[in-house]
Amino acid sequence: MKGKKIVLGITGSIAAYKSAVLARLLVKAGAEVQVVMTPAAKEFIAPLTLSTLTGPAVLSEFFEERSGSWNSHVDLGVWADAMVIAPATASTLGKMANGIADNLLVTTYLSCRAPVFVAPAMDLDMFAHPSTKRSLETLASWGVHIIEPKEGELASHLVGKGRMAEPEEIFQTLEKYFDGPAKKTLEGLSVLMTSGPTYEKIDPVRFIGNYSSGKMGKAIAEELAERGAKVTFVSGPVESLPKSDNIHVVSVESAEEMYRACLSVRDEYDVAVFCAAVADYRVATPNDHKIKREQVGALSLDLIPNPDISAELGKLKSAKQWHIGFALETNAESEAVIDKMSRKHLDMIVLNSLQNEGAGFKVDTNKVTIFDALNGGTVDLPLMSKRNVAKAIVDRMEELRFI
Ligand code: PMT
Repeated sequence: MKGKKIVLGITGSIAAYKSAVLARLLVKAGAEVQVVMTPAAKEFIAPLTLSTLTGPAVLSEFFEERSGSWNSHVDLGVWADAMVIAPATASTLGKMANGIADNLLVTTYLSCRAPVFVAPAMDLDMFAHPSTKRSLETLASWGVHIIEPKEGELASHLVGKGRMAEPEEIFQTLEKYFDGPAKKTLEGLSVLMTSGPTYEKIDPVRFIGNYSSGKMGKAIAEELAERGAKVTFVSGPVESLPKSDNIHVVSVESAEEMYRACLSVRDEYDVAVFCAAVADYRVATPNDHKIKREQVGALSLDLIPNPDISAELGKLKSAKQWHIGFALETNAESEAVIDKMSRKHLDMIVLNSLQNEGAGFKVDTNKVTIFDALNGGTVDLPLMSKRNVAKAIVDRMEELRFI
């Protein structure tokens, strides 16, 4: 993505606010971004927000009122390495499919020599209308890439047709386009992964949990799968799960369930990656009924330790199996890593520290240091998207011949 020239087209949809996130992801990855907005898009997001994120002034009109200068759609179309229109409304898709060049965005599309990507965004009825369907079919038949939201297993009920793909998904589509298909360096490898949080029941309506979103684990699983590995992905409750023919998702809720799922495949994997934020304790006796405030007043819970999944599997692992753990620390990081590495029989640890802004739970980025037991080396990585952190982790695994 570094140095790539991207025309980011924005049209008049409520999803336009997500374009700011997409613009930021592109700029962070080193792309040069020129935003082109339709007049309607400016009702949804201020051009100033986008030009502040990307650098150059946003283009929207054929002529600049103040200077009388002309914004050349032809130059833009030649300059671009890719054009991505996100969000793309039914109206813009229709204009593109029929050559109705009444704004700068559509004329730029018509002059564009580079690949074009569109991320449709509209309500369900508009999306289902034959007119929209025909526009999309026409554009697809001309080689325009249509980016629709990916759905994870648990998230499928949240994904309505017509909702715009998430900025991260759009970014990844572009990244993949520029990088080309991944080399299948991991074919034949079997990987066990844990990911996401665990929920420990207090009563039927409450639980003890943590902030893990599963994004880091998902990115690693997708990277492994793209390189040809088969992944058993044991996940706590998260909104979005990875989807690939190479990934078998096992959804669990509690640490005990996660432990049992991992134990059941203990002889079947070559590499295990423990990315989950497992609750170290659970409530000794969860209540069968909802605890009522009026009845108990002050409440104390009896907590007992959960199995340490990575440590237990570490005791059982064969000489051929490799274990990779994560460490999430707030202080004295290196000491904690060294202790965890030997206590849990880990071959590699990825440390993310909550002291670093943009690292750890929930966010789309991470900043990690990779420690390995093989030669005691460490690799410090800069703040990157979780997708790129995942790539770097898998690269390091390959480099160290863990796989
Ligand atoms: O899911 P995200 O929002 O993307 O956030 C990613 C992450 C911050 C959760 C991830 O990058 C991460 O750091 N995961 C491990 C968090 C953690 O619980 O660290 P820990 O230091 O407590 O545990 C050390 C290792 O032991 C981890 O590999 C953990 O998976 C494993 N463990 C811990 C406790 C336990 N009972 N069983 C385990 O297997």
